[in-house]
Amino acid sequence: MPADVWREGDALVLTRAGDPPILLRIARGPIRLGDAGLIDLTSQLGSPTGGSVDWLGTPYRLVRPSLSDLFATMTRGAQIITPKDCARIVSLGSIAPGNRVGEAGSGSGALTIALAFAVGPSGEVFSVDRRAEAIRLAKENVERSGLGARVHWTEGDVGTSGWPEEHLDAVVLDLPEPWAALAASHRAVRTGGWVVAYTPTYNQLERTVRSMRGLGLDEVQALETIERALHVGEGGTRPSFDMLGHTGFLSAGRRVD
Ligand SMILES: C[S@@+](CC[C@H](N)C(=O)[O-])C[C@H]1O[C@@H](n2cnc3c(N)ncnc32)[C@H](O)[C@@H]1O
Repeated sequence: MPADVWREGDALVLTRAGDPPILLRIARGPIRLGDAGLIDLTSQLGSPTGGSVDWLGTPYRLVRPSLSDLFATMTRGAQIITPKDCARIVSLGSIAPGNRVGEAGSGSGALTIALAFAVGPSGEVFSVDRRAEAIRLAKENVERSGLGARVHWTEGDVGTSGWPEEHLDAVVLDLPEPWAALAASHRAVRTGGWVVAYTPTYNQLERTVRSMRGLGLDEVQALETIERALHVGEGGTRPSFDMLGHTGFLSAGRRVD
């Protein structure tokens, strides 16, 4: 297998144990990293990934960003879908490399990044939001992640204007009123494809599931994911004291004709 080497424009993270990752796009010449100063990685171009550099007297590892790195470094606007729910959305929607997936709304682009990661270089994500400002921020986050070529953006209301594409493998809704977009989403997925919704409250979940059933979606299901981090120490392994109490509920149904 040929070595995985750095090419101009690749997304890269500088990592160091105990510090947050630093995301950048590798380029020829000095790169500005906010207020922290400049870094010159020109000599890394053409070198295998996974090397290290000294920057400001500190050694950093240079690796391709993981999904966790991308979530940790993104700029947040609208409330994002957290990694635990993004992962379950990918499995509920049966989202795989090469798939064409619809998403509304774009928000901050967190789920967009997870979907673009899941569909891979041969897949496509069609992200719709009715607010231009949301698309601007989500696009900025996706571009910084190096996943921009996989995502198409549309400004519009999926409830009233529908989806820009048909025969999608899956559609994911993160909107205050997903039920208003379910009929259009049902039409936009291919037979056997999934419509998945993320809703923060029980009331929204109930109304969404009722609408999914009313539209004739099959295998309708609802669930919540709960994640508890563990503190691992010699002889003192225990659950972490910090826990995210609530994020949202997931529901899904499959189109059958
Ligand atoms: C909570 S945010 C989405 C967050 C996003 N999933 C993330 O992980 O970053 C909800 C977004 O839905 C958009 N929105 C609400 N109703 C919509 C509709 N009917 N059509 C398109 N976008 C809509 C809002 O403008 C907002 O940006």
